[in-house]
Amino acid sequence: MQNIRLLLVDDENDFRRTVAKRLAKRGIVPEQAANGKECLSILEKRPFDVVVLDVKMPGMDGIEVLHHIKNNYPKTEVIMLTGHATTQNGVDGIKTGAFDYLSKPIELEHLLSKIKQAHDKILRNEERIQETKFKVQMQEQMAATERLASLGTLAAGVAHEINNPLAIIKESTGFMELILKKEEFADMPRKKDFELAIGKIQKGVDRARRITLQLLGFSRKDNSVLAEVNLKELVDDTIQLVKREAVNKEVGIDADIDDNKSVVWCDIYQLRQVLINLLTNAIHATDSGGKVNVSIKDTGNQFVLIVKDTGQGIPKENLKRIFEPFFSTKPPGKGTGLGLFVTRGIIEKLGGEIEVTSRLGHGTSFCVKIPKFCEFKKDLLDDERVQFLNKITKQGRSAH
Ligand SMILES: Nc1ncnc2c1ncn2[C@@H]1O[C@H](COP(=O)(O)OP(=O)(O)OP(=O)(O)O)[C@@H](O)[C@H]1O
Ligand SMILES: [Mg+2]
Repeated sequence: MQNIRLLLVDDENDFRRTVAKRLAKRGIVPEQAANGKECLSILEKRPFDVVVLDVKMPGMDGIEVLHHIKNNYPKTEVIMLTGHATTQNGVDGIKTGAFDYLSKPIELEHLLSKIKQAHDKILRNEERIQETKFKVQMQEQMAATERLASLGTLAAGVAHEINNPLAIIKESTGFMELILKKEEFADMPRKKDFELAIGKIQKGVDRARRITLQLLGFSRKDNSVLAEVNLKELVDDTIQLVKREAVNKEVGIDADIDDNKSVVWCDIYQLRQVLINLLTNAIHATDSGGKVNVSIKDTGNQFVLIVKDTGQGIPKENLKRIFEPFFSTKPPGKGTGLGLFVTRGIIEKLGGEIEVTSRLGHGTSFCVKIPKFCEFKKDLLDDERVQFLNKITKQGRSAH
């Protein structure tokens, strides 16, 4: 009861003060107003849950004040106080949106229970609003996930089909370049223009190849090569792959891995792709002198891999978009916008999850949780995997 914000409005000073005092004794300390005008000016300053409002007041009467409250503060509940002979006013009040009315003289217990009911109604409404908000959010999220899933399947299929023609274009332009270098073409007219055009084709093909490779990594379901992957080795190897880029930008890159026996059973190609995507993003977002750090923690049944940078951070409005396919803030031609989309796809396929936290101007941290027994959930328990499972379980037991 103490938390109810109550405003008591009545022009009869003695009556109002007495009621206020008695309410205060019961744990509700109301603010007081002696007329409609004062009531509205108090409401302008701060919100109230419940207004107990006398109908018969000089100047602006209770019904007029009620109209104003309902129009401007729809969440505030109003209990009208009517004279004995004028209950019609109370009925009019309810029609205008009052919660209820009480006839004077009022009984304190009765008033208290009405105030509590009005407050409960507010709480229920608030809950309903939150519930609806949550439902809408869930529906939006589910629709987005479904959209992404079908888009992912489609995109991966298209990537597969496009890969061969791309390889042919790449090979043919390489061949054309070789031919142009031959003696017999030394004096070819507009040779420079041809070379430039070939260069442009090759750049375009490289970009298209980057896209298809990302998408194919994601779709490598049927030809996944599952093996025991040592996480420390994988992280060290991958850091070597991206090190040159970090050194060129003068960005430090290091790893904190407490256990070099951390192993998961998965497709090393896919997990490496996850790491490359996260590390290159971190390096791209970090200026000279900044740092990128990879850490792995063993939490029992899962590994937590964190890629953290001290880079520019991600603006709030972009945070919910970064996992969408083709979302990129990099200049045109630089980013495919597929890195994180594919990364999340791979991790979710392993039964894991990925989360991001970021502070603009301070840095970003991607946290990947990978279950140790990810692939065992499926019905693929061949001998090799059973052995692996036994080994891990033994390791787990001996560690505790
Ligand atoms: N560590 C990070 N710090 C700041 N922004 C990031 C970080 N990682 C991702 N982003 C933001 O998320 C966007 C999407 O990333 P994603 O890896 O999917 O695509 P991309 O990096 O733009 O393209 P590509 O991966 O092909 O180079 C980036 O363009 C960038 O705006
Ligand atoms: Mg990227």
